[in-house]
Amino acid sequence: MSEQNAPKKNTPRKDNAEPEIMEKIVSLCKQRGFVFQSSEIYGGLKSCYDYGPLGAELKRNVKAEWWRAMVHGREDIVGIDASIIMHPNVWRASGHLAGFADPLVDCLDCKERGRADKWPQKEPGTEVEYKVIVDSQTGKKETRKGLVGKLGVVCGACGSPNLSDIRRFNLMFRTFLGSVDPVELLARALEGKNLTGDALKTAIAEAMNETSVFLRPETAQAMFTNFVNVQTSMRLKPPFGIAQQGKSFRNEITVEHFTFRSCEFDQMEMEYFVPPPGFAEEGKDDMYWFKYWCDERLKWYTSLGLRAEKLRLRPHEQQELAHYAKACSDVEYEYPWGWGELEGIAHRTDYDLKQHEKHSGKKLAYFDPQKNAHYHPYVIEPAAGADRAALAFLLDSYAEEPPPPGTKEGRTVLRLHPRLAPIKVAVFPLVKKEGMPDTARKIIAEFWKHQINAAYDEKDTIGRRYRRQDECGTPYCITVDGQTAQDGSVTIRERDSMKQERIQVADAVEVVKKRLA
Ligand code: GAP
Repeated sequence: MSEQNAPKKNTPRKDNAEPEIMEKIVSLCKQRGFVFQSSEIYGGLKSCYDYGPLGAELKRNVKAEWWRAMVHGREDIVGIDASIIMHPNVWRASGHLAGFADPLVDCLDCKERGRADKWPQKEPGTEVEYKVIVDSQTGKKETRKGLVGKLGVVCGACGSPNLSDIRRFNLMFRTFLGSVDPVELLARALEGKNLTGDALKTAIAEAMNETSVFLRPETAQAMFTNFVNVQTSMRLKPPFGIAQQGKSFRNEITVEHFTFRSCEFDQMEMEYFVPPPGFAEEGKDDMYWFKYWCDERLKWYTSLGLRAEKLRLRPHEQQELAHYAKACSDVEYEYPWGWGELEGIAHRTDYDLKQHEKHSGKKLAYFDPQKNAHYHPYVIEPAAGADRAALAFLLDSYAEEPPPPGTKEGRTVLRLHPRLAPIKVAVFPLVKKEGMPDTARKIIAEFWKHQINAAYDEKDTIGRRYRRQDECGTPYCITVDGQTAQDGSVTIRERDSMKQERIQVADAVEVVKKRLA
């Protein structure tokens, strides 16, 4: 639970931040159908995004690779698909209802709103100088001075120490389950009562709580509440894991960097239940498994092409850890705005199972037949985000290449790992005559038959068609040309090297399949 409850460590911004790369990626995403602003025709909805045809494929591929690595590729992890709305007591037990709140402050000078734990810290009583825009038309600024208040924080935007008191803000989206309209409930509860202030708030809260439910802010809790169901139905023995992918929702105050932080996102989480001290196999204690998962998860990103030098594992400092956590490390990626979290790997001890046991009154323990005793497993949790991973893969694969010697045209290319690429192979007829389109369509039909996502294109020059595919990351292009009718061969061009070779039409599916394996 590294991103939500734990205090944030401010990641230093890079001096040479490259916002133009972000602009280029956002623009490419729109032009090539990866990501669109949600409800764009109505002016857009802040922080909500729609994945277009190529983006949907990319995200599906990211999730499929995660599932392959975490579930299908091993015998100790099983997957579930739980409901998004859970019993409200789940969130009481997990601490989300009580503690899932950001400490918000408003700047009284520039009106910026932000998190007190993320804004610059200064010794209370220190005099600070800051600049405030006094004319919004011209952008004219005025220099002011002030003393840092008891919060010990200044505005993250203008540096002013004039801030409001902290207000708590619940990050969970509330909704209502049941046939009675919440407006009806409120009206009934308040009718004839002349309430104000705290008494009014309490009456409203009590009325709303009758039917309130919440959209899950993480997928993890269903793995804890289903621990016994899964363990007994699948006859599992720790160490074993329960994995899940799905939507999570957080009413984030700061939504930033395109899809990096948004209010609705896809998580890919796995809870790995390991024997606690006293029950563990020699040499494989809980810290062994924590390290194991840190290494595995880092490797997953490099195996799919993220450059190792853009990745690091950042162990949390003691004061960053949630009170129940024994350790936590973030897999961080160097985004254009600096290092930021890609995935968190947390050692959550037996906190969650015990919390749910306490709140539900149901035993959530494992019976160890060898020791003839029950125990609560410790939990190691690698928690990743599919949107954030997709963004990192896009950023990392983006390249602008200058024109090769003797030519005029450079190219933009997404060097996505072939398994992540939305379109695996494009098939072109060199010209729209001499039966070439028919042959190309026959070839593409073979790819579709083998569940390989393939695209057909016959518009523009062959060079432009290659460029179009390079820009959306297609690793292979097959061209039917004059020689095809003579000897049954086509060219296959590889995206990164741009090298072409001739292969037989009959072998095309096998050749591409082998390269994707
Ligand atoms: N159960 C633990 C948990 O949810 P987290 O660090 O809060 O931990 C895990 O979230 C991952 O989910 C993050 O590393 C990130 O990839 C993704 N994530 C979290 N909040 C997000 C947001 N607002 N937008 C996009 N992705 C987010």
